[in-house]
Amino acid sequence: MSRIAYVNGRYRPHRDALVHMEDRGYQFADGAYEVCEVRAAHIVDERRHMARLTRSLAELRIGLPMPLSALSVVLHETVRRNRVRDGIVYLQVTRGVARRDFAFPAPGTAPSIVVTARAHDSFRTESTAADGIAVITLADNRWARPYIKSVSLLPNVLAKQAARDAGAREAWFVDDQGFVTEGASSNAWIVTARGEVVTRPADGRILNGISRAVVLDAIAARGLSFSERPFTVVEAKAAREAFITATTQIVQPVIRIDGKQVGDGRPGPFATALRREFHRHAEFT
Ligand code: PDD
Repeated sequence: MSRIAYVNGRYRPHRDALVHMEDRGYQFADGAYEVCEVRAAHIVDERRHMARLTRSLAELRIGLPMPLSALSVVLHETVRRNRVRDGIVYLQVTRGVARRDFAFPAPGTAPSIVVTARAHDSFRTESTAADGIAVITLADNRWARPYIKSVSLLPNVLAKQAARDAGAREAWFVDDQGFVTEGASSNAWIVTARGEVVTRPADGRILNGISRAVVLDAIAARGLSFSERPFTVVEAKAAREAFITATTQIVQPVIRIDGKQVGDGRPGPFATALRREFHRHAEFT
């Protein structure tokens, strides 16, 4: 079955799903995106993802290409046409096509929109979660507005590759005071030796993850000891547990940081339980 993408008003086979070479997404990474999980053919937390997309586009002063109700139809239709049961749906909006010039194009230039969907191998992600992942840490050299889900991801790409080159799955960015900001494509968490769950507040130095919000709801529902505060790499290495959250990962236990074992070097019970109950706190459409 050929994969189908939605591009600027049309559903096309991937080989014909083209955008113009003067699209500002291609020229300047001038756009925003969202990735939603698809589970049992439903979209997970669409409402929160679309609210964040709206915020990202407003920050970038790009218009929403269509009302959210129409966007929802396109997302579901793309999932349906690709027969995705478990996987992701990806949505990208850019400032549109215009002659290359740094300043915004003429008012009225239509934003470009692309939607794709693909299945993932649930067995593989489950077995990764059973093993746990290694992370490395490196200096956060991104721009000062990572709370915008911009398609401009070059530092994240380089950080992820540095992790892969070191035999790790994720890279944690660290600010100039030694505090972890977030992962290259995930939010970072620890459970301290005293049993306190810690993640950095959404202070503008991180992307405010939707899975992060779901996990916060799960923690509140359980009445657990919790603190939204920055934590250092030193603290993370001494933690009882560590884990990451992201739409594509749900909750993924971290068992090594810069080669140092976390806890007993196995996925922790808290991260494992959170992963199991995650979807009870999510919304399906
Ligand atoms: N990335 N921080 C960064 C830098 C991210 O790229 C992501 C997700 C997250 C977690 O956000 P959420 O829980 O809303 O997925 C945090 C997506 C999955 C990606 O770019 O593929």
